[in-house]
Amino acid sequence: MVSASAPGKAILLGEHAVVYGQPAIAVPVNQVRATARVVPERRGSGLTVDARDIGRRVPFDAASPDDPLGAAVRHTLAHLNRPAPDVTIVVSSTIPIASGLGSGAAVSTAIVRALARFLGVELDPAAVSRLVYEVEKLHHGTPSGIDNTVIAYEQPVYFVRDRLLETFHPGAPFRLLVADSGAPSHTREVVAAVRAGWQADPQHFEHLFTQVGQRVEAARAALDAGDVPALGPLMDQNHALLVQMGVSSPPLERLVEAARRAGAAGAKLSGAGRGGNIIALVDAHSAAPVQAALLAAGARQVLHTLGGV
Ligand code: PMV
Repeated sequence: MVSASAPGKAILLGEHAVVYGQPAIAVPVNQVRATARVVPERRGSGLTVDARDIGRRVPFDAASPDDPLGAAVRHTLAHLNRPAPDVTIVVSSTIPIASGLGSGAAVSTAIVRALARFLGVELDPAAVSRLVYEVEKLHHGTPSGIDNTVIAYEQPVYFVRDRLLETFHPGAPFRLLVADSGAPSHTREVVAAVRAGWQADPQHFEHLFTQVGQRVEAARAALDAGDVPALGPLMDQNHALLVQMGVSSPPLERLVEAARRAGAAGAKLSGAGRGGNIIALVDAHSAAPVQAALLAAGARQVLHTLGGV
């Protein structure tokens, strides 16, 4: 039996603006992962994807072209120029769905890697990322590509759509809490809402995107220099710009406020928004009180993650 796994991810800064050509920074969240196991079956039984967590069993032949589980298999086989082997790919994931933690891209990454490995090929992160991007198009419509990139590389990435992809090592580790509002975040819909806003008032939205880009560049410089405290205010400013784009929500605001009041150095929504997660920058002392405040403010789950180690 062969298996592979992939982490969740959080966008540190730059979501939405990244769709319009601004830079963004994302980090892997290793505490939650998707796993795919390839179990050989008897001859002639075909390929089935068995996603038990979500109660879905997808026979590959019958997989509609729009089914992301089937699409991950299809793109991998086409890339390797191989027929479907007789196997069951058992998929499981601890990454909350529709929460901005990249569960779709992580599941696809685990399937692509495990299936290629079963067929005797170790794909490099660039190849995995390209294949997963094809699947992401089904989830998102017009994905920037940041999710598949950070998850396939499993390192912090500085990313400019269609132009630049840099993995980098921050000069000092930084501690994040990732708090789930419990409300779903439907990336495709929120991205479409931002697009409608941009079409209605391009000047205003372009200005917001440019300001986000400036915060991302400042954050990258701070991370390179190991100046973690400088990151906090930049996260707060990025959040304020996301509020102006209309992608926050009352539960997300409650969490962001609670984190700041309890001593977080900065806090913002992360991912498409309107639901999903917020991230808060903490240190060894503030982590526990901020976590308690987030849970008291309604967070369904709080993950701790260390970036830049
Ligand atoms: O998958 P999410 O919810 O983390 O959102 C992706 C980030 C966006 O910038 C909103 C969209 C994109 O394609 O980059």
